[in-house]
Amino acid sequence: MTIRSQKFDTAFVKENLMGPNALRIAAELALSLKLEKGMRVLDLGCGKGLTSIYLAKEFGVTVFATDLWISASENYERFKSMGVDDKVVPIHAEAHDLPFAQEFFDAAVSVDAYHYFGIEPDYLEKHFAPLVKKGGQIAVAVPGLKKEFAAEVPAGLAPYWIEEVRNTIRSRGWWHDLWKASTVISFKECKEMKCFKEAWQDWLTCDHEFARKDIGMMDAGGWKEFNLVAMVAEKL
Ligand SMILES: C[S@@+](CC[C@H](N)C(=O)[O-])C[C@H]1O[C@@H](n2cnc3c(N)ncnc32)[C@H](O)[C@@H]1O
Repeated sequence: MTIRSQKFDTAFVKENLMGPNALRIAAELALSLKLEKGMRVLDLGCGKGLTSIYLAKEFGVTVFATDLWISASENYERFKSMGVDDKVVPIHAEAHDLPFAQEFFDAAVSVDAYHYFGIEPDYLEKHFAPLVKKGGQIAVAVPGLKKEFAAEVPAGLAPYWIEEVRNTIRSRGWWHDLWKASTVISFKECKEMKCFKEAWQDWLTCDHEFARKDIGMMDAGGWKEFNLVAMVAEKL
């Protein structure tokens, strides 16, 4: 699988996916960023670190690959096997208790993870943006909805609309309004991502048990109702 100038072994990618293909999402998100060799980048909710590996290889940035569910030791083994352990630092941390200095990062990114914590109205101002230098870059991609559901969840999707999903999957407009209200960033973009279909197809065919369950959800209305939302901002 080739993502911009990087070739990845498809089996390696599929083994390490945790949702829609994070490599495709990171590559599209990075089109809105100016990343240069030596910059320090926070990758929050990096999971198995595919995005961190990609950013380090493609741009020569130093990535602090931070995650809760995946241990730092597991990610360190993966980073060594990919030859990026000199550029990617594995960190195990919770998003509300991040072990970094304020204004430490040139850029902060988060792919398919921010909705778990960033849905809180003060998360951006209290926890995420303060870690980025003034003038630094912030870029987030989350799974979302084309528009908020009216009173009822569409019938086909109802069985999948458990509390965790209901609380975290919001529309582009919802995210736009949340970030637009912030006084600590200059909001640059909030848009639906072009890679939605391909990123989801890669996930649904990767033979992960959660992906097999997601096939039903996408066929029951997900393809019609869902999108991927990208948000890009500058830290003030
Ligand atoms: C669906 S996975 C995506 C992982 C990776 N970004 C990717 O796209 O492959 C969501 C990730 O968010 C992380 N996450 C969820 N809640 C978190 C929290 N409170 N603090 C830090 N990470 C969190 C999980 O550890 C998990 O790896």
